[in-house]
Amino acid sequence: MSNTNSHGTPIEGAVALVTGGNRGFGRAMVRELLDRGAAKVYATSRSPQTLQHARIVPLVLDVADDRSVAAAARAADDVSIVVNNAGVLLRTPVLEAPLDDIRAELETNLFGIIRVARAFAPALGRHPRSAMVNVLSVLSWLTFGGGYEISKAAAWSATNSLRVRLREQGTTVTALHVAYMDTDMAANVTAAKTNPSDVARQAADAIIAGAFEILVDDTTRAVKSRLSGDLTALYPQLAA
Ligand SMILES: NC(=O)c1ccc[n+]([C@@H]2O[C@H](COP(=O)([O-])OP(=O)(O)OC[C@H]3O[C@@H](n4cnc5c(N)ncnc54)[C@H](OP(=O)(O)O)[C@@H]3O)[C@@H](O)[C@H]2O)c1
Repeated sequence: MSNTNSHGTPIEGAVALVTGGNRGFGRAMVRELLDRGAAKVYATSRSPQTLQHARIVPLVLDVADDRSVAAAARAADDVSIVVNNAGVLLRTPVLEAPLDDIRAELETNLFGIIRVARAFAPALGRHPRSAMVNVLSVLSWLTFGGGYEISKAAAWSATNSLRVRLREQGTTVTALHVAYMDTDMAANVTAAKTNPSDVARQAADAIIAGAFEILVDDTTRAVKSRLSGDLTALYPQLAA
């Protein structure tokens, strides 16, 4: 199966929305969409923001809240590109963390994507070509033992479901898998981190090309390639 289709979505002149567009990768994605000529970008945040750019429309959106998502979908009913970027990492070891904390990660990282997809599918479907990019992780395929990885693995499956369903209406759903990006979320990480602007460039290229998947870095590509092998390739501790 090809990893692209013939349904690339133009960015030039398009209206886009980025969840969590106030900081981190979301902010870089907003800038990239503007650089590629988007007519308008809704940059959403959980608290009201003032953004000084003629083509940015700030919008309050909490993806963990049904009513907030519904209100945002009413306000931004002209989008042909949606970037599901909002995410949380709460450090929740699977055997010890309060289940409520793991649920909170699922609420944003999994159900947030599903909520936004449901609410914005009608707007996307009004355009002949439209795009949804879901920001996932290399941790959709590899775990260090926390709820975050559970949420990103589930979000990967949800992305595949959405991709199949939304294809009928001409919406291409793209999964973005990345190891570390240099944002607040990875502030304590000392390993190599990709500049979020470089990731945003890859995401914009994928939207235009109609790519189903973006494997941002070598780590992500290596982990994905090992999924068909023995589990001990990903988890050497199991071989001991
Ligand atoms: N950084 C990495 O190394 C890395 C690696 C792989 C994947 N990712 C993924 O990349 C995406 C962006 O993360 P980042 O690195 O840019 O992290 P970040 O700097 O911590 O930013 C997270 C963004 O998500 C927003 N957000 C969190 N919960 C939300 C909610 N319920 N509703 C709406 N917005 C919400 C935050 O808004 P507030 O400002 O209101 O908190 C913020 O804009 C996430 O999905 C993350 O899981 C990150």
